[in-house]
Amino acid sequence: MRFIGNKESLSAKIYALLLKHHSIESHPKFPQSFFDMFAGSASMGKFFKAKGFQVYSCDLLYFSFCLQKAYIQNNQIPTFQGLQSIIQSSQNLADSLFANDISPYQKVLSFLDSIPAQKGFIYHHYAPSGSKHLAQPRMYFSDENAAKIDTIRMQIETWKQKQSINENEYFILLTTLIESLSFYANVAGVYAAFCKKWDKRALKPLTLKEIEIFPSDIKHFCACGDSIEVLQKIESKQVLDILYLDPPYNHRQYAPNYHLIETIAKYDNPKIKGVAGLRDWQHQKSAFCNAKTALIELEKITKLNNYKHLVLSYNSEGIMQKAQIDELLNPLGKVIFESFAYPRFKSNAKDGDKYIKEYVWIVQKA
Ligand SMILES: C[S@@+](CC[C@H](N)C(=O)[O-])C[C@H]1O[C@@H](n2cnc3c(N)ncnc32)[C@H](O)[C@@H]1O
Repeated sequence: MRFIGNKESLSAKIYALLLKHHSIESHPKFPQSFFDMFAGSASMGKFFKAKGFQVYSCDLLYFSFCLQKAYIQNNQIPTFQGLQSIIQSSQNLADSLFANDISPYQKVLSFLDSIPAQKGFIYHHYAPSGSKHLAQPRMYFSDENAAKIDTIRMQIETWKQKQSINENEYFILLTTLIESLSFYANVAGVYAAFCKKWDKRALKPLTLKEIEIFPSDIKHFCACGDSIEVLQKIESKQVLDILYLDPPYNHRQYAPNYHLIETIAKYDNPKIKGVAGLRDWQHQKSAFCNAKTALIELEKITKLNNYKHLVLSYNSEGIMQKAQIDELLNPLGKVIFESFAYPRFKSNAKDGDKYIKEYVWIVQKA
């Protein structure tokens, strides 16, 4: 998904470094463990799960947790057994039921795409007609797409309450909605503000697209909250092979920048305020976005005793200086450092300034 700091294109490079310098590879009988401590879009967890690692994953954001549940913890292609009667009674799916190559998952998405729209929280607060009483009506989604998001979100919740879908199916459907809606949002990358003119893609009718499922025989774990607290809880139980750290680089907090996805994921009718309609995010503040506390937090992680390797992603414009990080990591053991030119996130790009240096440290604890 479009997410600041998404490491999808860096995952193979980091894996190659781990193989080259530490011969770290996972084997089906003896899987190595990988803890993605700042999971965001879950891109690194997905990559290492596909390579056969046992993945632990965590983030402060609830919508990231939904992605982790669907991509990391879920190991099965969904069958939607509990929805067979609902799907089969749907007249507009009658034709597709005879087509064997259409999966139950795709049939459920077609059903969700076809329900008559019902206006809800997103329409009333984030679409122009619903928020027309405001001095600046909000234009995050077209009226039609906002109502469609409400309709789909409410239906997923109803199915969950009626136990028509299991936990994995619930998070697969939520993740499908979260991933799909980002293609129709009228924003320039993040949700801290909406565009004052309609982007062409925001006017197209929203349709749901299947997400990739990552089957696996290994039990994986994910959590929502402060990763350091989660790591401290598992400290006495297990020594992890790899801790992967990709903390925020600058003062920009993630929660206000992704507030609307968070609200769609939680669908909890929050109190909102301001031109952008922000929900309260004080409990989701990251200490890594503050120059005074970032290094202290990093030090807390390095001092834990339950890991063999620590991999840190950071960049040349981060609020922690490279020399400070070197000073913290070098005494821990054998340290490898690499840097790559990396495309800047679109909404941060200025003319002629399209690349930043992405740093990677790999520490093998002595
Ligand atoms: C640079 S992004 C990670 C991007 C991710 N690697 C990806 O590929 O999408 C940083 C993430 O760290 C999360 N975060 C910040 N502080 C955290 C903390 N103390 N515990 C857990 N997650 C945190 C943010 O919510 C954000 O999703």
